Amino acid sequence: MADETLTIRDNRTGDEVEIPISDGTIRATDLRQLGLMSYDPAFLNTASTRSGITYIDGDAGILRYRGYPIEQLAEEASFLETAWLLFEGELPSREQLEAWQEDVRVHTYVHTNVTQFLDGFRHDAHPMGMLLGAVAALSTFYPDAKEIGDAESRRLQRLRLMAKFPTIAAWVFRHSRGLPYVFPRNDLDYIGNFVNMTFEIGGRHEPNPVLQRALEILLVLHADHEQNASTNAVRGVGSTQVDPFSAVSAGIAALYGPLHGGANEAVLRMLDEIGTVDRVPDFIESVKAGHGRLMGFGHRVYKSYDPRAKLIKRVADDVFAETGLNPKLEIALELERIALEDDYFVSRKLYPNVDFYSGLIYQAMGYPTDYFTVLFALGRLPGWLAQWEEMLSDPEQKIARPRQIYTGYDEREFVPLEQRG
Ligand code: CMC
Repeated sequence: MADETLTIRDNRTGDEVEIPISDGTIRATDLRQLGLMSYDPAFLNTASTRSGITYIDGDAGILRYRGYPIEQLAEEASFLETAWLLFEGELPSREQLEAWQEDVRVHTYVHTNVTQFLDGFRHDAHPMGMLLGAVAALSTFYPDAKEIGDAESRRLQRLRLMAKFPTIAAWVFRHSRGLPYVFPRNDLDYIGNFVNMTFEIGGRHEPNPVLQRALEILLVLHADHEQNASTNAVRGVGSTQVDPFSAVSAGIAALYGPLHGGANEAVLRMLDEIGTVDRVPDFIESVKAGHGRLMGFGHRVYKSYDPRAKLIKRVADDVFAETGLNPKLEIALELERIALEDDYFVSRKLYPNVDFYSGLIYQAMGYPTDYFTVLFALGRLPGWLAQWEEMLSDPEQKIARPRQIYTGYDEREFVPLEQRG
């Protein structure tokens, strides 16, 4: 076999260098030998890290956490089990799982001062804005979280984040509704406790095991997705060695955007705007004419189908059997049917992604549209934390600081105010 190298000839000078290829990849820094940089806005063809956490084959529609197919995890694993897998690299033994569940359970309480921050938000504040503010604020309660070089401290912060995030997420929900905050109940499991803190009124909440399991599956499906925009934000901000609460709040900010986690909310708004099935063809035509995007379609990596979207459709069946059909499902199905036959979408390899159906399910469960991305954040938290840990223990990682191609003015003389036109 030929050497695993690449020979590059600079035709301006005739200089030639041979650089190594490893894992089908060349190192951008090797181009320095020719005085060159590589230019890759939006990271279309640049690996920012080596990672052993999540594997995606976008052409084949494969997603695995630590080697385990997402289909099996969605079927068999609990969310906390999945989180452990992402953190530790292996599925937990029964004792490990029980100890982990107990550890999380005893850290669910959040300093009640946090309720005062939340009270300061307007009644119509977007839940993601409140979530990112409150999670960032947690860093001030745990100054020891700055000890990012200490593995035991990192483990503790990870535990705190996993345990307190559902409490804060539920309080954000209560604030939006003008309802009093419900405190964690240690007799409930992770999902049951979260659902209780969101929906309990006057000491009453009738848990629905089918809906709770459906929510758990959705969280498992969202738990990690390798170097997506929000994970990249967590890694990038975390690379400055800031505490994990601040790094995670950067991830929440990135997730908020409509091209990322905010897409589930945007899908529902789009379905509302379309209104009725007979208006779907016109909507598709307007997208093709360049007026907006078909939200919940397309993915940077998946180019045949998003395996999570397939699994979510099954979850939708279970949920709608309990709650009755979401009337917007009909519009979504028609959009999908037409788009999958239309050359515009087919030629660009645009398929439904994880966000296309998740919003319909969340809505059927009783969550308001602007809350959907909070549920995505709850699901993605273990992925952010596992990737943060991996980044910190990777000797090749340094502060993430890209280069640029400067396109501005050359040096010029300052013009005093009175001489400016
Ligand atoms: N509707 C209509 N056209 C689209 C769409 C869409 N949803 N997505 C991509 N295109 C077109 C785009 O206009 C471009 O066409 P052309 O080549 O003629 O200029 C082509 O497809 C390639 O698009 P791109 O923007 O270069 O692709 P990207 O890899 O940069 O973007 C994406 C990926 C997910 C941001 C994009 O597909 C999109 O905006 N989708 C809608 C938002 C969405 O559903 N986001 C959720 C993503 S999955 C979960 C998550 O990350 O949160």
